[in-house]
Amino acid sequence: MSKRFSIFIIGGTGDLARKKLLPALSRLYTSGEIPNLDKVYSLARSEAQEWKEVACTLDADFGKLCNFIPFDVKDNSSYARLEEVLNSLEGEFIFYLSISPFLFEDTIRRLGPILRKFTNPRKLVIEKPFGFDLQSARKLNDLLHRYFIEDEIYRIDHFLGKETVQNIFSLRFSNTIFEGIWNKNFIDHVQIVALEDVGIEGRAGYYDKIGAVRDMLQNHMLQMLSFLTMEPPCCMAPEFIRDEKVKLLRSVRRMDKTEVKSKVVKARYEGYLQEEGVSKDSRTETFVAVELYIDNPRWQGVPFYLATGKKLSKKLTQITVVFKEIPRMFMSLLDCKPKQNKVVFQSAPKSKMSVFLELRPPAGRFLACPMETEISFDFEEYYKIRLPDAYEVLLLDLIHGDRSLFIRGDEVELMWEIVQPILDEDLPLHIYPQGVSLPEPARKLIESSGRNWYV
Ligand code: BG6
Repeated sequence: MSKRFSIFIIGGTGDLARKKLLPALSRLYTSGEIPNLDKVYSLARSEAQEWKEVACTLDADFGKLCNFIPFDVKDNSSYARLEEVLNSLEGEFIFYLSISPFLFEDTIRRLGPILRKFTNPRKLVIEKPFGFDLQSARKLNDLLHRYFIEDEIYRIDHFLGKETVQNIFSLRFSNTIFEGIWNKNFIDHVQIVALEDVGIEGRAGYYDKIGAVRDMLQNHMLQMLSFLTMEPPCCMAPEFIRDEKVKLLRSVRRMDKTEVKSKVVKARYEGYLQEEGVSKDSRTETFVAVELYIDNPRWQGVPFYLATGKKLSKKLTQITVVFKEIPRMFMSLLDCKPKQNKVVFQSAPKSKMSVFLELRPPAGRFLACPMETEISFDFEEYYKIRLPDAYEVLLLDLIHGDRSLFIRGDEVELMWEIVQPILDEDLPLHIYPQGVSLPEPARKLIESSGRNWYV
């Protein structure tokens, strides 16, 4: 049996804690997966009624473990109160920073010295965005390393807890039929999209200072890219998996000013400035699209189109790997143009993987034009289960101390290095109507090379 532990959620009555963390912990506890959980502490300024409802009523047994500590991250007496609680506990301490990224530094500066007084094993989970640019991410890493060793730090990216994202890894490295064609010789280009129909949902205080580049591109999107394109690790151990992601991120081409101008589209939905809490002279983007390249032997010359944004026509989180066209002589023989093969990893609206093949329809002449046929696998339908929420998956890994799906310090800095040229450039901010499938300039970005988005 693994060691006993208590978990402390700083920001423990906020949205993330109520909607994701507490329900995930409760499910893990009631299903018997974490019998070694001693106590759950929610730390926040006030004990909101919604917190009580969630923490105490999810499950009676789990409810008995839930406690509240009044806590203001900027107030020293709160830390003294916390210290008293820690003194009464045994086992491992897991701290989860479920607070605004603007408070990370202040909290670590005060929490770090307190934890140093204890010999209990500890882990610190930190949400994204980790810093606001390359420089602040380096500073945050330095600060963390004053009080924690790297192995105690869990930088979380919930996209890595999604079933389909994890299955990219299995598809590539547990099957022989794909890895051989997973390169520039067979793949024409790749599209990675995380499109949302919702807007900023009352989060202006956070979003207006952050924008789509820092909220989604720097983390979720680049992590999906890494999983899709990394080399196989020598062995399935957390450090070797992370080493390969780091190697890949180093090979992503750093854009110069000219490239940023021609390969990046920033846009904002109509009506954004009227959202409550948004500054009237805001230049924050709610959409970003970018064309990236990976300068290594496997991917040289293959474009990767990444797009993410809010208030679009639908929720779609998907990676589409588009294979090259078949040779032309074959097309002239058939007098038609077969579509390019595709492998699609979708995590929203469904968790499914598909392969699009060109197959001959059942009737007609031998040389009939093939039809695009989707062969797909829907995880929930097939296993007839509710897929665990991404946070459930990652919390379990965290508790077991498996760091494979958490972001290493050098890795997070490399991701900032890739987006820093975009942050440095004052790009035009296009306006798009709410509900469009993609902003027009993003279409042009891909159409200029004769390609189209599959969204
Ligand atoms: C979060 C972003 O990390 O991911 C949100 O801060 C975004 O702005 C969300 O809406 C999307 O996650 P999911 O799992 O709903 O696709």
